[in-house]
Amino acid sequence: MSESKTDGMPPLIITIDGPAGTGKSTVAHQLAHRLSLDSLDSGSMYRAASLVAIEHGIDPAEGPRLAEALGTVDLRFDWTISPPALLMDGRDISRRVRDMDVSRIVSEVAKCSPVRAMLVKAQRSIASQHPRLVTEGRDQGSIVFPDATVRFYLDADPRVRALRRVSQLSASGLEVDVAEVTEDIRRRDEIDSTRSDGPLICPEGAIIIDTSSLDIDDVVDHMVKAVRDRINDGVA
Ligand code: DC
Repeated sequence: MSESKTDGMPPLIITIDGPAGTGKSTVAHQLAHRLSLDSLDSGSMYRAASLVAIEHGIDPAEGPRLAEALGTVDLRFDWTISPPALLMDGRDISRRVRDMDVSRIVSEVAKCSPVRAMLVKAQRSIASQHPRLVTEGRDQGSIVFPDATVRFYLDADPRVRALRRVSQLSASGLEVDVAEVTEDIRRRDEIDSTRSDGPLICPEGAIIIDTSSLDIDDVVDHMVKAVRDRINDGVA
């Protein structure tokens, strides 16, 4: 990992958890930009592990084998790009990991405890090198950074989330079928929130925001204010 743009400043970790399609990635990126922090998309790391499964022909149910294969690849972010590009053995896989073949298996992959253990460790290591960080995912405030300065939980109506994901995928030039995306979101919600290791939960003490009828700017404004209030209260 290259040096952080926040060198010399006090640590500030902000976590954003919630189900797919709540706007976490966009919000995390914009919040990081507004507060001059780095941003981490932890879901992209589970997507990279899924790509390893696809390319090595490993069944996602074979957790230890998949973790072993994941250990042989060099997974890192290029922090000189905003949002950071995800590199696997030097190859930019940022777009590739959004494809439907990856999305279809990623929740199964995210159930594998050996894979989770590796990625949780990698996320904490990233935070030690980028200590002023907005990180988003499913377990960032509950498991990975329970002592984060501010923890958010974003939620939204499932129909709104599916439509958002469809327009996001279409905008990035990917062919999408609305019914397939809706079903994919429903299935991933169920797997993510019922798995035994690091399930999607609302972390205790998190600030909950329902984004169903809010636009991104309103959500980010609200979060910037909450972070500043927390800092002014002397928490950070
Ligand atoms: O946010 P996303 O859709 O890119 O996440 C992909 C998958 O990875 C999703 O099914 C949940 C899982 N995930 C996880 O288990 N823990 C995280 N911290 C982030 C994502």
